[in-house]
Amino acid sequence: MSNIILIGFMGSGKTEVGRRLAQRLGYGFVDTDAMIEQSAGMRIAEIFASQGEAAFRKMERDLILRQLKALDKAVISTGGGMAIFNNNLPRLKKLGKMICLSARPEIILKRLDGQSDRPLINTPNPKEKIEMLLCRRREYYEQADFTVDTSELLADEVVQKILDWLAHKPVA
Ligand code: S3P
Repeated sequence: MSNIILIGFMGSGKTEVGRRLAQRLGYGFVDTDAMIEQSAGMRIAEIFASQGEAAFRKMERDLILRQLKALDKAVISTGGGMAIFNNNLPRLKKLGKMICLSARPEIILKRLDGQSDRPLINTPNPKEKIEMLLCRRREYYEQADFTVDTSELLADEVVQKILDWLAHKPVA
C-alpha cells in the first residue's frame, strides 16, 4: 500500500500538514478523528464523556481494520493515541510510510491553549499531563520511518521536509 501515515502527539500539526502534503502529492486525505466523529455522529469529547476512552480506542482499531486498510495513495492523519493502543502500530505500518510529527511540550501547550476538544488534556495541569503522555508514548512514536520536529516550522516547511525525505534528498 502506498499511503503516508502521520502519527504524533496532539498539536504536532498532523491535520494541517497532512492536508497540504496530500495536495502536493496529488493524494487523497483522511483524518481518523473526523472519520470516527462522522460515523459515531458525535464529537470526540462526547464519545469520551458518554462511552469512555476504551470505547474510543476500539473505534480507532475498527477503523484501521475496516476502512484504512482499503486506502491507497492517501495521506492518513491519525489521532495522537491511535499508534499507541491495541497493537495498532504494526497494522498502521503495513499501510505505507509512517512519519511522526513531534513538538516540544511547551509548544504543544501553546497550540492547544483554549481548545476544549482534547479530553485527555482537559485537566487542571495540562502541561504535566502532556509531559507524562509524551514520556509514555515516546517508544511508539520513535518507530516511525521519519520524524520532523515541527516546533519552529511552518506547515509548508514541514511538508517540504517530508517531500525531500520521500525524494531521498538529504534533509537539512
Ligand atoms: C488523542 C488525540 C486526539 C484524539 C483524542 C485522543 C490522544 O487527536 O484522537 O482526543 O490520545 O492523543 P489529535 O492528535 O488529532 O488531537
